[in-house]
Amino acid sequence: MHRLDRLVARNTGASRKTVTRWCKGGALTDREGAPLRPADKVNPEDLPMEVLLDGEPLPLRDELHLLSHKPVGVITAMKDGLHPTAFSLVAHHPLSAELRAVGRLDLDCSGLLLWTTHGPLVHKLTHPKYKIQRTYEVALARPPTRAEPPATLEDGTVPHVVRWSPMDAGDCHPALARPDEAACYARICLDGGAYHEVKRIFAAMGSHVLALARTRHAHIELPHDLAAGESICLPRHELERASAPSDAPSSDPA
Ligand code: URA
Repeated sequence: MHRLDRLVARNTGASRKTVTRWCKGGALTDREGAPLRPADKVNPEDLPMEVLLDGEPLPLRDELHLLSHKPVGVITAMKDGLHPTAFSLVAHHPLSAELRAVGRLDLDCSGLLLWTTHGPLVHKLTHPKYKIQRTYEVALARPPTRAEPPATLEDGTVPHVVRWSPMDAGDCHPALARPDEAACYARICLDGGAYHEVKRIFAAMGSHVLALARTRHAHIELPHDLAAGESICLPRHELERASAPSDAPSSDPA
């Protein structure tokens, strides 16, 4: 059972003292307008549910899972002294203080970034031992001189390239920047997740990545119409499904 004051504090970011004040002042009520008390109990099975704060609907939940479109120039961090953070773009969601990014995207990369309040899912979706596939699209400065991805990178990392293929500019996801200098485009699917892995793979193939976007994490795709900086809620079962090792249909693009 959840205590109401703790649940409201987690969902709104307010302190429990503030929530108690809301209750005492009659600002926090159920949907019929009956006043709520800080120590009221909420059955987890009744979540998500809605209460009213000053007459306005206030959704309460115990967990949150998001899909966001990270723009270029935003750092995958909760806090940073120098750059705007990806977290600041999801901080308006309830329970945001408990959200964790599912992996990272470089400052100069865009695309799909998942978030969840459920720590074990972050681990299952990112740890290399679970081999969860991620798909990226890249704009390249020149065509690769080698068709085969390298067996190892310069620091000994073994890249796990599931497949890669050149692609037409017209087929690229809208999240991928298309610089004027780009000579060609490609799509690559990996089940690893090493530092700067995609850039280092194409460098080892004799090319250079000018722009990079993640378009898919397991079966979850970045919707074409989700603008940069925007985020949408996902049901937990989508992330559970994504973290299942068998979820890698070979008919997926690239
Ligand atoms: N590979 C990279 O080089 N950068 C990313 O952000 C993700 C994968």
